Amino acid sequence: MKYNTEINRRKTFAIISHPDAGKTTLTEKFLLFGGAIQTAGAVKSNKIKKHATSDFMEIERQRGISVATSVMSFEYKGKLINLLDTPGHKDFAEDTYRTLTAVDSVVLVIDSVNGVEDQTRRLMEVVRMRNTPVIVFVNKMDRDGKNRFDLLEEIEKELNIALHPMTWPINSGKDFKGVYNLHDKNLVLFTANTRGLDEDVLQIDDLSDKMLTTRVGETDAAQLREDVELIDGVYGRLDAAAYLSGKTAPVFFGSAVNNFGVKEMLDTFIRIAPVPMPRQTSLREINPEEDKFSGFVFKIHANLDPKHRDRIAFLRVCSGRFERNTYYHHVRMERNFRFSNPYTFLARQKDVIDEAYPGDVVGLFDTGNFKIGDTLTEGENFFFTGIPSFSPEIFKEVVNKDPMKTKQLEKGLLQLTDEGVAQLFTQFGGNKKIIGCVGELQFEVIQYRLLQEYGASVQFNTLPFYKACWLTSKDKKKLEDFARFKMANIGEDKDGHMVYLAQSEWFLNTERQNNPDIEFHFTSEIHK
Ligand code: G4P
Repeated sequence: MKYNTEINRRKTFAIISHPDAGKTTLTEKFLLFGGAIQTAGAVKSNKIKKHATSDFMEIERQRGISVATSVMSFEYKGKLINLLDTPGHKDFAEDTYRTLTAVDSVVLVIDSVNGVEDQTRRLMEVVRMRNTPVIVFVNKMDRDGKNRFDLLEEIEKELNIALHPMTWPINSGKDFKGVYNLHDKNLVLFTANTRGLDEDVLQIDDLSDKMLTTRVGETDAAQLREDVELIDGVYGRLDAAAYLSGKTAPVFFGSAVNNFGVKEMLDTFIRIAPVPMPRQTSLREINPEEDKFSGFVFKIHANLDPKHRDRIAFLRVCSGRFERNTYYHHVRMERNFRFSNPYTFLARQKDVIDEAYPGDVVGLFDTGNFKIGDTLTEGENFFFTGIPSFSPEIFKEVVNKDPMKTKQLEKGLLQLTDEGVAQLFTQFGGNKKIIGCVGELQFEVIQYRLLQEYGASVQFNTLPFYKACWLTSKDKKKLEDFARFKMANIGEDKDGHMVYLAQSEWFLNTERQNNPDIEFHFTSEIHK
């Protein structure tokens, strides 16, 4: 219990959204409130240009920045907030998903015009796996969006989560007048303002107060009274336990670019969002308050510059205190390591740190000793669980263009896939090597790195698969028969687990129906 004060002031979370919903803008406003940046636009200018060339070197050019923005730590009202970045553009990769296993809660940004979009669904599936608490921010209320009741219904249905409005908007688009804070019972009036942090707040303890009509007009005041009565009747008070167990998501309405409605959310966030939570391991549950240090690697960031071959492993501290220059036990390798230059990411600067506490993310220089999911402890032998591999969505066969370099190619494929951005499968009964990724860009990166770092020249042939499912069954014989029968669609992952490569949803559903004794899993635990 030595570190309770430190643990209880930490909140580690991620903002997730479909590209363009406003994640970067909202991040920037959070950093402004936290005093971590002084001017609006500072994050924006670092962002990978959406319409930039598809050349991944352009993205690589930005990677120095993206390391710095991988974790953004700032203080707000006495709390230390660790905001983990989840890239959502061309460089969308499996590690975006995996970052979500390192946070204690998320803020989901929804564009009020577009509603629930593709990547929102995919990211939320991952969030639901661990019942991570979610706060929803409905953004772009200054634009003519969907009817707010319809939008809430759409989010609830599509994302399978109950919602609880915390603020309520008066209109949208050019008629947007502000939000009523149902919790604090005040009205925040909207003014288009992209720079300042102040808001025009009107305290209204009673909605029949004349002041309301004076400020927003008869019609809108009447509508707000009606809406609030309805909402109060339907939703009542927020059930904190339902939020913390991921069943109910509080909802805020606002406009990130106008810095409107953001403070209401941030103030609620620091009040209700969970502090670092206990984590399950192969041995027992680890409590953050335990005296001994433990943590796991959820992301590895490689430097593509051949002159600087170092990598950074991102470690989430789960218990105890991490200290610089102290030997820790690398459970998988059964070796002790110490780190002389561990990084934190306070105020978006990389800084060497002496200590870190549960909820913090530490960047460790790595020369190839880490794999995704690796655990560090003070000697105990366990692995953190719940760090999955996700089904890739694009599959390509690796064609070796230089048979003299076969060994190098194999080594390169193994090492690069250890970093966790792509997965490697071998086709059953053959030697065909298949790379599976979530985003197209990863193939370019892999091709380039195999050549630069291992001297192996490859080409990719696109394969007609859309998903990989890990197969298990209590009936071994049924699994073997299935594998023999469906040979062309069966492969093995790096750990020798059997996967079914499905051509389409139709095929997948048909096989699932025809084989009720076989279980098809869309994720695979790294440590079983
Ligand atoms: P992302 O990180 O989720 O991809 O979204 P980002 O914050 O980059 O926002 C996407 C676009 O939406 C940006 O415009 C941004 O200015 C705009 N935006 C963010 N919040 C709001 C809002 O509350 N209202 C309105 N109307 N727009 C908003 P852009 O034209 O793509 O970039 P820029 O030229 O403004 O930098």
